[in-house]
Amino acid sequence: MPTNHDSLALDNLAAVESDARRSLSVAEDEAALESWRTDVLGRSGTLTGILRSIGALDADDRKIVGRRANVLKNELEEAFDERRALLAAGKITDIAGVDVTLPGRPHRIGRLHPVTQTMRAVLEILQRLGFAVIEGPEVELDEYNFDRLRIPADHPARDMWDTFWIAEQEGRIAARQTLLRTHTSPMQIRYLEGHEPPIRVAVPGRCYRYEATDATHEWMLQQVELLAIDEGVSLADLKGTLHEFARQIFGSDTEVMLRNSYFPFVEPGVELAVKFRGQWLEILGAGMVHPEIISAAGYDPEKYTGFAAGMGIERIAMPLYGVDDIRNFYQNDLRFLSQF
Ligand code: DAH
Repeated sequence: MPTNHDSLALDNLAAVESDARRSLSVAEDEAALESWRTDVLGRSGTLTGILRSIGALDADDRKIVGRRANVLKNELEEAFDERRALLAAGKITDIAGVDVTLPGRPHRIGRLHPVTQTMRAVLEILQRLGFAVIEGPEVELDEYNFDRLRIPADHPARDMWDTFWIAEQEGRIAARQTLLRTHTSPMQIRYLEGHEPPIRVAVPGRCYRYEATDATHEWMLQQVELLAIDEGVSLADLKGTLHEFARQIFGSDTEVMLRNSYFPFVEPGVELAVKFRGQWLEILGAGMVHPEIISAAGYDPEKYTGFAAGMGIERIAMPLYGVDDIRNFYQNDLRFLSQF
């Protein structure tokens, strides 16, 4: 049985060994090698000191420690010779104390953010359903974000979108107020300005809301707007499109519900909710494009009809990935993000 005594001596031996190996690994010339030999194996070297003190140990300890010390002496002498040979051959892999033979440190492998993955999946489905993807400005005019969507300044529906206004600057025409768009719906108006029916577009983008956050609300969110206008487009087309979309993104087992809602720019308005953890989570608003919007664009609303929808990408990502708090998405916590 080793005694305490001898385990102390073995600890000393281990310390001498690791010191010796470390200093040998940075010896880069003959002078350094020689001084290493003196320090470790020389007459008053660290290992020699231990070998000398072995005589003072009990007989049992002497045997154990003595054997280990002698083996170490041989090993260090070999290491010394090897180091000297490598140095002489110019094969030293150690550069200024850096051991280039050590394994490399792995880099973290990057991945797409879950909201980006969801956005891509959503656009892929919509493109297969025939929607062309276009983008619009994040800094928007009041006129497009609200007025021309039938949300005038005094309309109570403005409360649905708390707004980040952009401060007036000198020289700007006061009537053209700017803001961070609160939704992607202004692109309905912009697109209609420059394109004739048939129209079938999907508009992805970031939107901003000046509001308190909670488990289902963030101040920055991503939406995809849909706009489809042609002769004879009906609510049945909207329903069919939304159900097919939901089936493709969530699978056919997920329960979805289309229910009545209100948005000033559609008539009627609906919303689509999915069953998530026992509750209905609204993932999009939609409806039939208001006839006034069609006629304001210069088309006969008796002839042309259409549907529009605005989906919340984070809201879709929540049931998709089983995330029950929307705020997780933008906290940039790698423990969260690296799971997707
Ligand atoms: N823009 C609405 C929002 O952000 C969502 C919306 C509702 C978009 C109905 C639409 C629509 O296109 O028809 O709350």
